[in-house]
Amino acid sequence: MNSNDDSAIAAGLDPTRLPYHVAIIMDGNGRWAKKRMLNRVRGHEKGAEAVRIAVRTSRELGIAALTLYAFSTENWQRPKTEINALMTLLKRFLKSEKKEMLEHNIRLNAIGEIERLPGSVREILQEIMQVTKNNSGLLLNLALSYGGRSEIVRMVQQLSESAAAGKIRPESIDEETVSAHLYTRDIPDPDLLIRTGGEMRISNFLLWQIAYAELHITNTLWPDFNRAEYVKILKDYQGRDRRFGKV
Ligand code: FPP
Repeated sequence: MNSNDDSAIAAGLDPTRLPYHVAIIMDGNGRWAKKRMLNRVRGHEKGAEAVRIAVRTSRELGIAALTLYAFSTENWQRPKTEINALMTLLKRFLKSEKKEMLEHNIRLNAIGEIERLPGSVREILQEIMQVTKNNSGLLLNLALSYGGRSEIVRMVQQLSESAAAGKIRPESIDEETVSAHLYTRDIPDPDLLIRTGGEMRISNFLLWQIAYAELHITNTLWPDFNRAEYVKILKDYQGRDRRFGKV
């Protein structure tokens, strides 16, 4: 038994039945700030602390992959000041967590239109992805300038180009081919999708990949998300009967 198993058992979880891949829509930073008459950016700052907690908890419990919806393609339509603040926060997070990722065997990955991010964010992102690429512990997958539909459009373009060039036959395209042309090609689909902030929607997140994910929506605003709630959600997940459409 390893130390992850010990942590999971101590938290009241069955280490053999943890979700392999957890995905989170981190919503509610703005409302958290508004409730306190603070600027929205303060909500994002507090949200970045909740990100640290979610990463640490995932790693300690032995979750293999954690995908966080940190910035959507739609988020580019927010005011410039808010976008800049989010990019600054992201940079700060990456710089401050680099040591933690190296020490704890975390592998960083990013999905989305990374080329649209400011150069300084891309640089630090690529540097950490490079130095952590051989790590075998938690895969921390950040969705940045990510949109599920645009990911699907990109996949269709790639496959149709290959077909037009005679490299693949259209009739040979199956679900595996599609999965292999998404940003998440190396990662099994999420088993559990958590959304904070109480909204009952998917917001263009991992549209193809969540086909059989268990959904958990909590009213907790993202900056208030903590280890105790994460463990509670995992316990709820372990009580579910996953049938994948079968009886
Ligand atoms: C949604 O809150 C959250 C975001 C748009 C971005 C998530 C960003 C963070 C958690 C902080 C930085 C990220 C990292 C990885 C360090 P909202 O503003 O839509 O909240 P609202 O629905 O209450 O307005």
